[in-house]
Amino acid sequence: MSKIVAFIGSPRKNGNVDTIVQQIIDGATTSSSTIKKFYLNDMNIKGCQGCLYCRKVHDCAVKDDMQIIYNEIKDADYVIIGSPVYICQVSAQTKLLLDRLYPLTEIDKSKHTPRFGKKKLIMVYTQAAPFSFLFKKYFKYTAKHLKGMGLEHFKILIATKAFEKNSSKSNKKILDSAYKLGIKISRN
Ligand SMILES: Cc1cc2nc3c(=O)[nH]c(=O)nc-3n(C[C@H](O)[C@H](O)[C@H](O)COP(=O)(O)O)c2cc1C
Repeated sequence: MSKIVAFIGSPRKNGNVDTIVQQIIDGATTSSSTIKKFYLNDMNIKGCQGCLYCRKVHDCAVKDDMQIIYNEIKDADYVIIGSPVYICQVSAQTKLLLDRLYPLTEIDKSKHTPRFGKKKLIMVYTQAAPFSFLFKKYFKYTAKHLKGMGLEHFKILIATKAFEKNSSKSNKKILDSAYKLGIKISRN
């Protein structure tokens, strides 16, 4: 049984990111997985304060909703992070989460190793632009640098032509891929 934790980095509930992440969850629900979904926009998450408390202690000095998230990630098998592309990058809500993952890494002579074990990382991106290659390097780069926090690249899903809130609901290809991915991870 897999433990799956998903984060929606879009402010639009039921929008493109939410729809695709929910498809993964629906696929995973076919087996007995533990699944939790969080809307980052509804949570109280401050930006990293750069205090470096987490370099000495395996925790964050800021006691906000990230404490819930740390607990969920620590024993997760799969972490799903979904973000719309905003100005060619992740949304601000997603970036707040990424920066605050710093307590999950140990740094020794510039080498980053996970403090709380390895989890498989699934990233879901949605964008208005019609070409999936446009931001792919940035997506891979982002995933690569989360490895030190224990989030190891497993899959990146990209939905293109997803400007309107409901665009992805008629994108059968991405919905199928997401659902199949959900089935796959629930069995791993
Ligand atoms: C502030 C803002 C910036 C955006 N910047 C980009 C962009 O740089 N490239 C792109 O392809 N789409 C861009 N978009 C479109 C969103 O990526 C697209 O609508 C996305 O699918 C929204 O996901 P959601 O429905 O889950 O909110 C932008 C949208 C907004 C609101």
